[in-house]
Amino acid sequence: MEAPQETKSSSAMMVEDRIARLKQERNAVILAHNYTHGDVQDIADFTGDSLGLSQKAASTNADIIVFCGVHFMAETAAILSPQKRVLMPDGNAGCPMANMVTPRELAEMKAEHPDAIVVTYVNSSAAIKAMSDVCCTSANALDIVRCIPEDRKILFVPDRNLGHYVARTLNRDIILWNGFCPTHERMLPEQVLAIKAEHPDALFVAHPECRPQVLDLADAVASTTGMLAYCAKSDAREFIIGTELGLLHRLKKDNPGKSFYLASPIADCPNMKLATLAKIRWCLEDLSGEVRVAEDIAKQARKPIERMLDVTLLEAFLKGE
Ligand code: 13P
Ligand code: SF4
Repeated sequence: MEAPQETKSSSAMMVEDRIARLKQERNAVILAHNYTHGDVQDIADFTGDSLGLSQKAASTNADIIVFCGVHFMAETAAILSPQKRVLMPDGNAGCPMANMVTPRELAEMKAEHPDAIVVTYVNSSAAIKAMSDVCCTSANALDIVRCIPEDRKILFVPDRNLGHYVARTLNRDIILWNGFCPTHERMLPEQVLAIKAEHPDALFVAHPECRPQVLDLADAVASTTGMLAYCAKSDAREFIIGTELGLLHRLKKDNPGKSFYLASPIADCPNMKLATLAKIRWCLEDLSGEVRVAEDIAKQARKPIERMLDVTLLEAFLKGE
């Protein structure tokens, strides 16, 4: 009788082979966020953070993009590449933070601050992006806000923690929306202090979606791809990781001689785990799970995303050109 482990890996290999064939037949590319399952990251053509994924989505020559991540990421890809089909292996993969701001609420806030520049984290719906002046990700939020003259008011939507980190780092007054990532919010400073006590030589690397009290304890704050780069470059051998647990897959794979400890074992984003190899295969078989954005919304939402990707467009906008 075959060992269960062998049976599992041979069926997984069959699924992987089928995905590889379908990808060729359909001229498809698979993009995966750093938080997805390890086996999904391993078969993806590109794995990265929100910024890297949006840049890839904008530049790929593929006809089909299979987006393994959450809904706002696939929407961003569809907005940037309207001529391509963007498929999600599981369309239920939403982002609770993105749902913490509605168009009506944002319209009310904009009416209260009519002169504010609306800087919107990409973790937001297309409808919210369409009402915004510029988008940002955790990788470029500081650079984007640095471009905005000191005398301009800023409304930062929807992540209060990333917004607070930007305000504090750049010493700027920023009006913060009261949204947050439930996964990162679960991480508490006392947990970090306890792990630091267990591993006194470890550096603590945190994502800016963490609470300010957690970021106060960090040796470095960066996006997920920034965290990967920091750990790869550092001479340290041990790291405490302050983000979603999916990042451990690449960290361990890229740095076999180094040790990584999660700041919180419950920093798990269930939505990021909805994409599986089986679902990727079926969406490629059936061309199902297409993400579409209404053309009028896409047209408006494209502007703040493009201003984020090309700073000269942002500068022209800020000059009123
Ligand atoms: P980055 O991909 O920008 O690191 O952000 C993490 C995240 O929460 C994505 O949903
Ligand atoms: Fe949203 Fe947080 Fe999950 Fe990222 S990790 S998709 S911000 S809930």
